[in-house]
Amino acid sequence: MDQQTVSPARRWNYWLGGKDHFQIDRESGDRIADAYPAVRVAARQGRAFHNRAIQFLAGEAGIRQFIDIGTGLPAPDNTHEIAQAIAPDSKVVYVDNDPMVLAHARALMVGSATTYVNGDLRDPGAILTSDEVRATLDLSRPVGILLIAVLHFIKDDEQARGVVRELLAAAPPGSYLVATNSTKDFVSPEAGALYDAMLAAGHVDAWPRDRDTFTRFFDGLEIVDPGAVAICDWRPDSEERPTPAEVSMYGAVGVKTR
Ligand SMILES: C[S@@+](CC[C@H](N)C(=O)[O-])C[C@H]1O[C@@H](n2cnc3c(N)ncnc32)[C@H](O)[C@@H]1O
Repeated sequence: MDQQTVSPARRWNYWLGGKDHFQIDRESGDRIADAYPAVRVAARQGRAFHNRAIQFLAGEAGIRQFIDIGTGLPAPDNTHEIAQAIAPDSKVVYVDNDPMVLAHARALMVGSATTYVNGDLRDPGAILTSDEVRATLDLSRPVGILLIAVLHFIKDDEQARGVVRELLAAAPPGSYLVATNSTKDFVSPEAGALYDAMLAAGHVDAWPRDRDTFTRFFDGLEIVDPGAVAICDWRPDSEERPTPAEVSMYGAVGVKTR
């Protein structure tokens, strides 16, 4: 296991209050939290959005198969647990490029209806043609494509859009895209400038996108209500919730209609 390089998956686990992280991940996590004190709130809200979006897909939208790219380390309420609680026949393919996620996923999440691909979002073709995807999913039927807190690790907008386009092209009408991306839209110019300085110094690696740029990931799709909003405001299940600035993350769900 590489203990000298920061792992977004382990750092996310640190913010979520998990146990699977090394010193280098904690240092990076603390540095980011110093600039964005609400980052732990944002991580937890990210999982809460994930839960609500899967509940919508498995419930109202009737989706029975999912591809969850940028899975992260197992956390309470993994995708297959939420989906299978609603529809026990739901199938899930998890995809991540972090070897530690692979080890945990093999131990905890893989069963007959769930499988794991050691793959990279930047190479969707390899994911789509993998043996695991072929064996687990029927891509002639609608699929839920989950890109939750992962697109912002691709800096280039056009590259990120190309990845999303390629994934959607392989999915039939009736398929859904769930995506989130960090943003500076809700914070003060001072906080935004501080974040830019951290990006320039290589202290953070999540590239924020504004609302228009984020919304373009859904080109050609119909975005379901309430549209592209701060994740805390996407079909909230509680009156008490943080502000958009505290989560600083856009989320949306779109359906492929043709
Ligand atoms: C911030 S975590 C999000 C985890 C989970 N989706 C959630 O919302 O709780 C980001 C995950 O994306 C993975 N990741 C980052 N870049 C990736 C890439 N290019 N391909 C596949 N996975 C990637 C990281 O290893 C990490 O597990």
